[in-house]
Amino acid sequence: MAEQKATNVTWHEHTVTKDERFQLAGHKGVVVWFTGLSACGKSTIANALDNKLHQMGKHSFVLDGDNIRLGLNKNLKFSPEDRTENIRRIGEVAKLFASSGTIAITAFISPYKADRDAVRALFAPGEFIEVLVDASVETCEARDPKGLYKKARAGEIPNFTGISAPYEAPDKAELVLDANTKGIEELTNEVFAYLESKGVLKA
Ligand code: ADX
Repeated sequence: MAEQKATNVTWHEHTVTKDERFQLAGHKGVVVWFTGLSACGKSTIANALDNKLHQMGKHSFVLDGDNIRLGLNKNLKFSPEDRTENIRRIGEVAKLFASSGTIAITAFISPYKADRDAVRALFAPGEFIEVLVDASVETCEARDPKGLYKKARAGEIPNFTGISAPYEAPDKAELVLDANTKGIEELTNEVFAYLESKGVLKA
């Protein structure tokens, strides 16, 4: 839990309510939080879901591991403490997006259960949708699009998730995607069907 350092700051309620923003958007603001190993398909599914929602006139936006680490979180590395801070900041940003009436889609390894649960605690019930992209280390290593597993095996990347750093799978994810056997389109449709079934796509 990050320490509150600033004093003499107070929370201001906005005149426009969250529900009014959802009404204007025509759907709810939520976060679809993908978690899973590097190269499991998180970013690809996130992008496909974003594209599908956008084509339907829904407001969505992807916050993606590598991109955020090139900007907002460029001062963080991959120690447990830095990963915790990475996820804490993303959680807060995702909450701002969701409050604005956007379907925020995040694609971070987010390997620690406690960090994901801390983000979940920021949201009202039903507004944090945790999606495990379940692919084994073997599957991800066989894909290895960026050659990172190869480097990690050679000892060139310390603290590499799945090789020399832990990954704690969620035990209460809203959705588990079988990325060992299914393709991107099928998995994207599973997430879309979940959002539809939960009434997220209506105000
Ligand atoms: S997280 O653990 O803090 O959630 P995040 O999703 O932001 O990780 O970033 C993961 C991406 O950073 C990976 O997809 C990979 O491209 C790159 N990366 C570089 N070093 C590491 C490492 N040691 N462990 C995992 N991913 C790494």
